[in-house]
Amino acid sequence: MPSRVVVGLQWGDEGKGRVIDSLAGEADIVVRYQGGANAGHTVWVDSKRYVFHLIPSGILHPETTCIMGGGMVVDLQALLDEIDGLNDRGINTQGHLFLSPRAHLVLPQHKGSEGLWEKRIGTTLKGIGPAYAQKYARLGVRVGDLYQEGLEEKLRLSLAEEDIQGLAQRLQEQGERIRPYIRDVEPLLNRALQEGKSLLFEGAQGTLLDIDQGTYPFVTSSHTTAGGACVGTGVGPTKIDEVIGVTKSYATRVGNGPFPTELGDELGELLQRDGEEYGATTGRPRRCGWLDLVALRYACQVNGVQRVALTKLDVLDRVPRIKLCVAYLYKGERIEEFPLSLDHCEPVYEELPGWENPTKGTRDFGKLPQKARDYIKRIVDYIGVKICWAFTGPRREDVVEMG
Ligand code: GDP
Ligand code: IMO
Ligand code: MG
Repeated sequence: MPSRVVVGLQWGDEGKGRVIDSLAGEADIVVRYQGGANAGHTVWVDSKRYVFHLIPSGILHPETTCIMGGGMVVDLQALLDEIDGLNDRGINTQGHLFLSPRAHLVLPQHKGSEGLWEKRIGTTLKGIGPAYAQKYARLGVRVGDLYQEGLEEKLRLSLAEEDIQGLAQRLQEQGERIRPYIRDVEPLLNRALQEGKSLLFEGAQGTLLDIDQGTYPFVTSSHTTAGGACVGTGVGPTKIDEVIGVTKSYATRVGNGPFPTELGDELGELLQRDGEEYGATTGRPRRCGWLDLVALRYACQVNGVQRVALTKLDVLDRVPRIKLCVAYLYKGERIEEFPLSLDHCEPVYEELPGWENPTKGTRDFGKLPQKARDYIKRIVDYIGVKICWAFTGPRREDVVEMG
C-alpha cells in the first residue's frame, strides 16, 4: 500500500476531510501534520455530519490509527471537547488516536491576544499565529512539557500572565486527561513504514494559505503544502509515494486577501447557497468565485501533485455559463505564472457552456453530462495533472472514480 499526502490546492475547505475519509479505509494510519483547531474538515456518513478540527478525519474508520503530529499546535481544551463530542456519538478514540509530545500548545493567552489585535488577515481567532510565533521564537511550550519538571518556568519565559501557577495547574489537569493519547509518534510512524504499513497524511488549510508558498501575508502560520507532511511528522521525503491534491470545481476563500476570480454578484450568491459555503470552524460566509487555473497549476507544482480530486461538481449544475481563469492581466501584461502577489491581477477568462443538468449523486463517468466532462478535460489539459475523482455530493458514495 502506498503512503500518500492529501493536500488542499486552494484557500482551504476544498473537501479534504471527505477525501481523507474515502481513502482512510485503505490506510493503516492517518496523520495530521500541521495547523490546529483553525481547520474544519467535514465528513458525512449515513446522514450524520462530523466536523473535525484537530482529530484526523480518518477517525470514523475503527481499524485506522489516527495521529496528531508534532508539527501541529494544540489547544488542549478544544481537543478534549472534540474527543468528548465523538465519544458521546459512539465513536471510540481510545487506543486509536495519538498525539505527539512535540506538538506545541495553544495557550489561552494566544487566543486572547489574537482577539485583541487581529483585524488585518481575518483569522479564525484560534490562536494559531501567536502559538507558531512563539514556537519559532523558541519560547513555545510543548505537549511533552506538561509531564516534566519546570513547566512554570517555561510558561514564565513566554507569558506576561500574573497567575502562572494557576495556569500551569490547569494545563497539567488537562494534560492528565490527555495522557492516554500521548505517544512518541515519530518512531511509531517510521516503524510502521518499515513494516510495510501505509500512511495517509492529512493536510489542513490549503496551498495558497501556506506561510511560504501562499498569498502572504494573507496566509496561515504553518506549512500547509505536501512538504509539511515530512517536517511535521519526522518521516523522510523518500517514504512518500504519492501526493493527491484536492480542489473544488470553483473557488472559495474565507478571511481577507486578494481573490482575482471572486464573484460579487448573484452568481457568487448562487455558489454560496448551492455549495453551502459557510465556514465549518467559524460559520463565516465564504467568498466565492470561478476556478483559477493559474493558481491551481501553481499549487500542483509546489506540492508535486500526481492526482487531483475535484469536489463539488454538482454545485455548478445550475450555472448557465462557466468561466475558468487561464491568465492574469497585470499592468496590461498577460501573465500565466503565479506571481509574488495577486494584488492588481485581473483574471483573463475562458468561457464554457454549463451543463444545466443535475449531476448530484452521480457515480458513473458515463452518466456525467458531456459538458461536465468537457469542463473536467479543460482543467486537466491546463494543469497537466490527471483528475481521478469527481465528487458529486457530500455523502461518502457521491463520487465518480476515473482511475
Ligand atoms: P475541508 O476543510 O477541506 O475538509 O472542507 P470543509 O469540510 O471545510 O468544506 C467542504 C464542504 O463541502 C463540506 O460542507 C462538505 O460536506 C461539502 N462537500 C464536500 N464535497 C462535496 C461535493 O462534492 N458536493 C457537495 N455538494 N458538497 C461537498
Ligand atoms: P481547513 O483545514 C479555510 C484562513 C483564515 C484566515 C487565514 C489565517 O478547514 O481547510 P489562521 O486562523 O489560520 O491564522 O487564519 O487562514 N484559514 C482557513 N480558511 N479553511 C481552513 O482550514 C482555514 N484555516 C485558516 O480564514 O484567512
Ligand atoms: Mg474546512
